Amino acid sequence: MRTSMLNRRTEQRFRQLAITAVGSIKMRLILGCFTVAMLFVLANRTPSYLGWDTDRSFAPESPGSTSRKGYALLINTWKRNDLLKQSISHYTSCPGLDSIHIVWSEPDAPSDSLVKFLNLVIQSKANNGRQIELKFDINKEDSLNNRFKEIKDLKADAVFSIDDDIIFPCSSVELAYSVWRSAPDAMVGFVPRIHWIDQSKGNVNQYMYGGWWSVWWMGRYSMVLSKAAFFHKKYLSLYTNEMPSSIREYTTKNRNCEDIAMSFLVANATGAPPIWVKGKIYEIGSTGISSISGHTEKRTQCVNRFVAEYGHMPLVSTSVKAVDSRETWFW
Ligand SMILES: *[C@@H]1O[C@H](CO)[C@@H](O)[C@H](O)[C@H]1NC(C)=O
Repeated sequence: MRTSMLNRRTEQRFRQLAITAVGSIKMRLILGCFTVAMLFVLANRTPSYLGWDTDRSFAPESPGSTSRKGYALLINTWKRNDLLKQSISHYTSCPGLDSIHIVWSEPDAPSDSLVKFLNLVIQSKANNGRQIELKFDINKEDSLNNRFKEIKDLKADAVFSIDDDIIFPCSSVELAYSVWRSAPDAMVGFVPRIHWIDQSKGNVNQYMYGGWWSVWWMGRYSMVLSKAAFFHKKYLSLYTNEMPSSIREYTTKNRNCEDIAMSFLVANATGAPPIWVKGKIYEIGSTGISSISGHTEKRTQCVNRFVAEYGHMPLVSTSVKAVDSRETWFW
């Protein structure tokens, strides 16, 4: 009885503190500047064992353990062989990788030289007696839904879905993978996005879509984008076979929002928010569609369209963020 009262009081205090901090714009800016300064300090001090390609902290579990199946890399690419080579060369050095599936939607089949190069990379990196499997998933039509086609005979349960123009250090990938193993029904990713009710419309059923700055400002998110996320392979078959076909048709026609559709699907199936994992992002390509003007409006349209399809808003927002405790100084 006493402890619960005490807890409640502490909780109240914390909430007051949180509200004070969030309520003041100045406070936010000061905190923001402080964080940036800290990041600079950290960047210069990060010991090499936390750097990419060198992290070998992932310890294989005991032999015979069935849970140790690793993850499948599901990489979406479009006419950028150089980026594809760079990405795959990198990810083959990550310890948990089990197989690579390249979603290929170009009219021409992958060239012999590309296939040869990738096979050589895989063979040279196959350490610990682990042979990584490489497959091209060749598609006749060019649709954004191709990236979520069901993969037959997938050994791993976990899919790491990634675009060809961003690279995460193996340490970040392993952190996300371990978070996913704690919550295998959740979408676990590095790029958070948010939705909220559009008050200006005076209609409670109108929503807005918000990017990185909205997430930063509100300290909340309700989606993680599939350009860098772990999810269970069962969602691939749900996306292709169970999700209303009108949603797939919409994403094909508008060439956008397959990632929002996946977020809706997982949220509707779980009734829970996704999990945002802190990770270092290295962009290796030129800017994508998110820098084209009108992008946010299109995404907002997608959100409202999908809400209409579902008959309700399935997305759940949260403020939880998973970090590597070795990289935090204050507890
Ligand atoms: C949402 O989830 C419910 C309950 O699991 C399910 O019956 C329904 O078909 C799902 N809706 C869509 C559009 O997938």
